[in-house]
Amino acid sequence: MQHGAIGIFDSGYGGLTVLKEIVAQLPEYDYMYLGDNARAPYGTRSYESVYRYTLECVKWFFEQGCPLVILACNTASAKALRTIQQKDLPLLQASNRVLGVIRPTAEVIGQYTHSKKIGILATSGTVQSGSYVLEIEHFYPEVQVVQQACPMWVPLIENNRHETAGADYFIKECIDDLLQQDPEIDAILLACTHYPLLAKKIEQLLPKGIRLLSQGAIVASSLKDYLKRHPDMDQRLLKEGKQLFFTTDSAEEFNLHAGLFYGKDVQSQHIELLP
Ligand code: DGL
Repeated sequence: MQHGAIGIFDSGYGGLTVLKEIVAQLPEYDYMYLGDNARAPYGTRSYESVYRYTLECVKWFFEQGCPLVILACNTASAKALRTIQQKDLPLLQASNRVLGVIRPTAEVIGQYTHSKKIGILATSGTVQSGSYVLEIEHFYPEVQVVQQACPMWVPLIENNRHETAGADYFIKECIDDLLQQDPEIDAILLACTHYPLLAKKIEQLLPKGIRLLSQGAIVASSLKDYLKRHPDMDQRLLKEGKQLFFTTDSAEEFNLHAGLFYGKDVQSQHIELLP
């Protein structure tokens, strides 16, 4: 049985918005964060690529001794999680766990809408997978889900161009396209862990009465609950309050940008993944 830190994964920096909330709610645990920045963004990549990249990163976490890995990336949760859970996990480390961010969000999202119409803003990959539509239907069959892909948003954020006039154009375009599909939407989910960086801008563009939701706090509460319900897993997790950061690209570059997402500066290390 492995004992180790909780692994938090994203294609790049976005998962740091989730880690920030998890650490706020569960500060006593150890965490290892990995951003696959060398291959980000994942949002427009095929199932096969997202699955292969995500699996390589999950294997890396297991090699570091992490018994529990959270895919803090909607695209990876949508396109790779199920196959990893069902096909790979039993062969790799059957007692380890890999969890995603879509299910915990779908479990509670119905509480935030009166009109029973929810808007989802996400990467093309997450939208095409239909994962949110299926998961929300499962928990809240009365709720209608309207999706809008925002393919330009992650590249703008990853390149730190999200506060430019050019970015404003693409942000407004997607919001308008979403609301045109159904003007009765009264709750919108930022279903990509990069998007909280755009929350202020999006709020300014939204008509009054529409609630904007980010996933960080939702995923953190769900993890807290999961650990209470799974004491066997909880006992395998190190609790020295340490956080370590890793990237598949340049550590210097990661350190420069990570603070924007995490709320404070971090020192990362570069790693090479084995296929
Ligand atoms: N942050 C990721 C998500 O939640 C994806 C970003 C990307 O690589 O396109 O979907």
